Amino acid sequence: MGAATSILPPGPKSRSPLGHGAEFIRDTVGFLRTCARDYGDVVTFRTGPQRSFLLNHPDLIEDVLVTHNHNFIKPFALRRMNLFLGNGLLSSDGEAWRRQRRLAQPAFHRERVAAYADVMVAIAQRRLATWRDGEDRDLHEEMMQITYEIVGKTLFDADVGDQAADVRDALAVTLEHYQRVLSSFWILLPDSIPTPANLRLRKALERLDSALYRVIDERRATDTDRGDLLSMLLQSQDEDGSRMSPRQVRDELMTLMFAGHDTTALTLTWCWYLLAQYPGVQAELHAELGSVLCGRSPGVDDVQQLRYTAMVVSEVLRLYPPAWGIARQAVETCEIGGYRVPKGSIVLMSQAVMHRDPRYFDDPDSFKPERWADGLAKQLPKYAYFPFGGGQRLCIGYAFALMEAALLIGTIAQRFRFTLAADQRVEPHAALTLRPRYGMKMMLHKR
Ligand code: HEM
Repeated sequence: MGAATSILPPGPKSRSPLGHGAEFIRDTVGFLRTCARDYGDVVTFRTGPQRSFLLNHPDLIEDVLVTHNHNFIKPFALRRMNLFLGNGLLSSDGEAWRRQRRLAQPAFHRERVAAYADVMVAIAQRRLATWRDGEDRDLHEEMMQITYEIVGKTLFDADVGDQAADVRDALAVTLEHYQRVLSSFWILLPDSIPTPANLRLRKALERLDSALYRVIDERRATDTDRGDLLSMLLQSQDEDGSRMSPRQVRDELMTLMFAGHDTTALTLTWCWYLLAQYPGVQAELHAELGSVLCGRSPGVDDVQQLRYTAMVVSEVLRLYPPAWGIARQAVETCEIGGYRVPKGSIVLMSQAVMHRDPRYFDDPDSFKPERWADGLAKQLPKYAYFPFGGGQRLCIGYAFALMEAALLIGTIAQRFRFTLAADQRVEPHAALTLRPRYGMKMMLHKR
């Protein structure tokens, strides 16, 4: 953060009271990319009364996420989802966040994550057994189902897939609601207004809450330590000996259920889409799976050997980062890149913009996993590529997600390849996460 000036950075001008709200909502990533291309490393624009600053340089992103992180809190959009995520890890700040992060961290240690590998593969195989050669399926839906069951089984030891299709439906309604609300002017109105959509949300949340409280109550009643995240949360004690309230445990479970399945499912969905467009990459991937796995199921010890698979995942996360942007709100007025950023402003850092910046990536729109072969990750400025965020709010589940992606690609791509269904339109849509706006119907081909 350099010497402050009182001048606003450049940016698109608007006389409308909505500012650039309509453009932002219509095509968020397109709008942000145009801003970066036309105005440079720091750009300002307004959506309604809210002023935002878009940062398009790795050093400035590091300033916010790392060096001066204490001056930034999570933005209004996350607090807007309070009924859903409550005070969980993703949306809390300050001391409350620090305490929760400390408690949850052990569930994500390397050895612990390694122990989840077999469950991940078994759940994927169970789903694959229902697939038939030549049929069309929405692979986004399929991936969501698999990653959802994995989070439930690994983190709370609950068979959410078998026991409660209803819970999965309620979660889908809730996600759909926020995907829609957060990318429209509905964001300005609270969920408590009794519109039909809000009433549907309420019902879905009631179903989710009752399922989560049932899991919590059952575990409390037996008082057994199963060594999973749920046991850790229930057993944790504050310095004064007090336990976490059921509401706080519920908020953490809900947060992990959301943050832990949608993002990984999208990584895989975009992966299948890209592989279908790039047969050369697909052939290389198949060759690696053949030589490392020789037809058997992948296990944790194979992950290190699946080097090309890891490069494919890095490249998918570059082109279609499920977390397409990170937002923070300035607590106090500060300076960024020599500009004054008033208290309350939103600071935006977008993976979808940075990951295709030609200053850092050659031929940025092409899917070229081999670009990662010779240590590109180490040569890049740290925040030119940041699919999992950074600083103290770095994704707690990144090792979990990378292992899960490699294992699921290994399991699935050995048995099936996919081609886009003839009538499938593909358009990325930046709502809560970067998803295919019209789904991802693909034809299954047995290998
Ligand atoms: C490819 C998959 C994933 C991607 C791209 C991703 C991305 C991210 C990003 C960018 C953040 C930082 C958000 C911010 O700074 O505002 C984050 C935070 C978080 N992620 Fe992930 N994530 C993934 C998978 C997972 C998984 C598998 C889990 C859990 C099982 C998880 C749980 C969380 C949680 C709890 C946070 C909040 C951490 C905190 O603030 O302390 N994520 N994730």
